[in-house]
Amino acid sequence: MKDFYKAVKISDHVYWVGAIDWNIRDFHGYRTRRGTTYNAYLILADKITLIDTVKAPFKEEMLSRIASVIDPMKIEYIVSNHSEMDHSGCLPECIEMIKPEKVFASVVGSKTLKDLFQIHQDISSVKDGDRLSLGNMNLAFMETRMLHWPDSMFSYLAEEQILFSQDAFGMHLAASDRFADQIDQSILEYEAATYYANIILPYSPLVLKLIDKVAKSGLELKVIAPDHGPVWRKNVKWIIELYARWAAQKPTLKAVVVYATMWHSTEVMARAISEGLAAGGLNVKLMCMDEWHRSDVIYELLDAGALIIGSSTLNNQMLPQMADVLTYIRGLRPANLVGQAFGSFGWSGEAVGKINEVLQGINIELVGEAISVKLVPNADILGKCYALGTLIAERLHDGIGAL
Ligand code: FEO
Repeated sequence: MKDFYKAVKISDHVYWVGAIDWNIRDFHGYRTRRGTTYNAYLILADKITLIDTVKAPFKEEMLSRIASVIDPMKIEYIVSNHSEMDHSGCLPECIEMIKPEKVFASVVGSKTLKDLFQIHQDISSVKDGDRLSLGNMNLAFMETRMLHWPDSMFSYLAEEQILFSQDAFGMHLAASDRFADQIDQSILEYEAATYYANIILPYSPLVLKLIDKVAKSGLELKVIAPDHGPVWRKNVKWIIELYARWAAQKPTLKAVVVYATMWHSTEVMARAISEGLAAGGLNVKLMCMDEWHRSDVIYELLDAGALIIGSSTLNNQMLPQMADVLTYIRGLRPANLVGQAFGSFGWSGEAVGKINEVLQGINIELVGEAISVKLVPNADILGKCYALGTLIAERLHDGIGAL
């Protein structure tokens, strides 16, 4: 054990015993520019309980932090709120070493853990609403299927009003501070929004139902302890309100123009469209995919009302960097957008049609006509691009006005 790793006290009986991954920069396709943490929590109840574990290479860090408050061999229960390997990677080794009396997971989680790992110990399944006595304290379980895996669940420690929320309300942010109220608010909001857009967005309807369910349950939430990033203490209400706003996906007067270009024809068109959007009163974000990452695009779309996509045609296809970001957007399913496609070509010109297939596939309302130009856009075409921008702006104003 490395004794410089310390646990951090979260409440009277709960400690953070996770690990800090300062250097990770890619999380299955999501660019994590500020690293992340894998949070695990130790409850010093009569039955000493560990909530989640950490990614496999960080096992020693977690065990060392636990050892700073108790002998890890005294852990009697382990609860797995989420089976994804950043939280369960070292679970099999911990079970082998600690031999806890019981391991708990949701019904789907129990099966998923057995499918993922060679775990010889029985895993006890808990269902939505089940309670677990820790002797002097109690845990209640709430299934949160598809937030963001089918196995996902929350655990709630009633006596200290702490919600262990696994990935929900988390963010990828490595920091030496453990509490959100110790971190600059603009960084918190940016990283929480980026996390929401890149991980939680497709499940927004479930988020709205969950927020409603928690509100109706009357649960008091003094602390939200997620599996990534800082612990919410003084600003629990703020992060819940942000989640409610992001989940509602209400469009704003903002347009995101994303393009990839070979010889700058598509780029000039993108600029003309952007000028038209701005002249129509929209806040515009223009993003060339040689310079931006797919994670940035989906972040910008979180509060956008319009998405306009452009690409040159290369070998009868859109440019590969555009195919990359479109695949990502299609999977994350942003809602309530209007938009259109544009682009340029040398002799065949398939890119614009292929982009529009994707836009239609994710229910983006197409405004006006797609613009596809051979070789170089002339003044007439650029005028049409500008006009497309103003038309989209008009449609967005009308749509938002009608909400
Ligand atoms: Fe942080 Fe879905 O794992």
